[in-house]
Amino acid sequence: MEWETVSLEWNDSIATVTVDRPEALNALNVETLEALAEAIAAAEAGDARVLVLAGAGDDAFIAGADIKYMKDLSTPEAQAWGELGHDVADALEQFPGATVAAVDGYAFGGGCEMAMACDFRIASESALIGNTEIDLGIIPGWGGTQRLPRLVGEETAKRMIFLGERLDAETAAAEGLFGEVVSDDEVDNRIEEFAAELASKPAVALKAAKQAIEQRHGTGGLDYEKRAFAGLFGTHDQREGMKAFVEDRTPEFE
Ligand code: CAA
Repeated sequence: MEWETVSLEWNDSIATVTVDRPEALNALNVETLEALAEAIAAAEAGDARVLVLAGAGDDAFIAGADIKYMKDLSTPEAQAWGELGHDVADALEQFPGATVAAVDGYAFGGGCEMAMACDFRIASESALIGNTEIDLGIIPGWGGTQRLPRLVGEETAKRMIFLGERLDAETAAAEGLFGEVVSDDEVDNRIEEFAAELASKPAVALKAAKQAIEQRHGTGGLDYEKRAFAGLFGTHDQREGMKAFVEDRTPEFE
């Protein structure tokens, strides 16, 4: 299958799915999210033991949801947009093999959320990560309110989300958000090595272990987040926050 902004490459049983929208630092629009969903499904259909999620280039993993697309959405449109992002994050979380986010560069908002839906996050030294949505007048809308506290604990998650903090790689690792930080030159090799090690394990047992661990989480919080995210569209602060990003100025919130 061919997609304009996403690629799927195979190395034995390891599938690498790469988002490639350099003009927007790999931010996710509808077309890219739909392509991602199809690429993840194709990796599953091809019995991938490991899925690596990456962003093309050295600047960004994924700079978030596409703000230029989102800025004028109504609440019902934002509901559908939120569902689409949640579906992709859920597909990563429920992927039968192991998943690794290769975080090289910016991972903000929806990019941070896709990384958190993976089993592992291996980052380059220069990576930056955060759920930065507050500065756009919204909240994380693709699972961040639920997955971030699981990884870093509630107080740190609240601090990061309320303040829209952008953590450097070393700090993110200390907070539990990155499993490993590797030098920019070595990160690709390390991910390849780690993926190969995961792929060498018995796939049926690995899947059972993953599903057992996932049983700890309910879906009530994710459903609440979808409604709260969509409900913020059309507020003064959402319109102003996103307009200010596009106009490259500081927003004036109410
Ligand atoms: N959506 C749309 N376009 C984006 C984007 C995004 N999330 N992030 C970057 N871009 C675009 C910029 O608008 C710019 O395009 P133009 O050249 O056409 O102006 C291009 O990518 C390069 O970006 P910058 O010039 O800003 O590059 P920089 O190096 O100065 O800054 C950055 C990089 C710090 C990542 C900055 O672009 C930035 O802060 N981006 C927004 C990050 C963000 O807030 N993400 C969260 C989005 S909300 C979300 O994801 C909601 C959700 O939960 C679903």
